[in-house]
Amino acid sequence: MSDRKTIAVVGATGAQGAGLVRAILDDAGGEFAARALTRDPNSEKARALAGLGAEVVAADVDDEASLRKAFAGAYGAYCVTFFWEHFSPEKELAQAAAMANAASQEGLQHVIWSTLEDTRKWIPLDDGRMPTLMGNYKVPHFDSKGAADEVFTKAGVPTTFLLTSFYWDNLIHFGMGPKRGPDGSLALTLPMADKKLPGIAAEDIGRCAYGIFKKGSGFTGKTVGIAGEHLTGRQMADSLTKALGVAVGYNAVTPEAYRGFGFPGAGDLGNMFQFKRDFEDYYCGARCVEGSRAINPRLQTFDGWLAAKKSQIPLE
Ligand SMILES: NC(=O)c1ccc[n+]([C@@H]2O[C@H](COP(=O)([O-])OP(=O)(O)OC[C@H]3O[C@@H](n4cnc5c(N)ncnc54)[C@H](OP(=O)(O)O)[C@@H]3O)[C@@H](O)[C@H]2O)c1
Repeated sequence: MSDRKTIAVVGATGAQGAGLVRAILDDAGGEFAARALTRDPNSEKARALAGLGAEVVAADVDDEASLRKAFAGAYGAYCVTFFWEHFSPEKELAQAAAMANAASQEGLQHVIWSTLEDTRKWIPLDDGRMPTLMGNYKVPHFDSKGAADEVFTKAGVPTTFLLTSFYWDNLIHFGMGPKRGPDGSLALTLPMADKKLPGIAAEDIGRCAYGIFKKGSGFTGKTVGIAGEHLTGRQMADSLTKALGVAVGYNAVTPEAYRGFGFPGAGDLGNMFQFKRDFEDYYCGARCVEGSRAINPRLQTFDGWLAAKKSQIPLE
């Protein structure tokens, strides 16, 4: 029987969670074991994690009883929500509360909550610089995560609040890669003007989380922001040009234009980028690259990530 401490990983088949499961399993002599939570232990991704050595268990963040079962006997848990599956900040808050309650009931010793800022602390709802969305939010998928921080605190859960960054993988999976304009040339479109966007390889989020679990209780009650690099849109476009061997421009649209693109979530993302643009000093300052490298020595740069992933970026 292993005496390793079990980390229950929510979203284990997804970007953040899978990175953590792989980081735990990669460290063969390490002190932790990975318990991968999924709604479907028979899915291909879940079976692949089992094949790597993870314990795979069924759980649904909409079902607190299933979370309690999945957290039982664990040392810690990685908690993340899935805003883009439902686009509901209220649902996200309820899911975070279910995880916090389950973690508290099961007496977990260290939880990492994958959070973001409640932007309403910087831009109150009556601030007209950006539209209020869904009646009660500026950046819905940020605000609900930030609002959930106190749910973990109030439940008495020893929590590290992990402020994540823009995944560079969005260029592959989220339709944010370079697109051709009317003249046929490629451009990266971001409403960031000349401001820096903290970004990270999605895989590194899990690796940073692993580093935090290894550091242990010194990190509970703390907020830790992570990023692989802080880059302007121009710098990202230049790196794309070098990596892809084809000219990629930077199309610096306004947040208003971005909100008007009309795809689901365009308003939310337009407000998000505006927040990052207008509060660059705070936002970059909260995501220290060197601190991220200290907990994850394998932290990738954008150029390094591109070298590995450039062939996956869809180009029209
Ligand atoms: N894209 C970005 O740049 C970025 C940056 C920072 C933060 N975020 C945040 O990251 C979050 C998403 O994390 P991710 O990217 O790791 O997700 P993801 O890759 O989209 O993976 C989602 C995983 O969540 C699981 N899942 C979905 N609904 C579930 C439920 N009801 N109960 C249990 N598991 C469920 C699914 O696993 P099964 O099907 O196996 O159950 C799926 O594999 C979002 O809230 C987003 O706001 C994104």
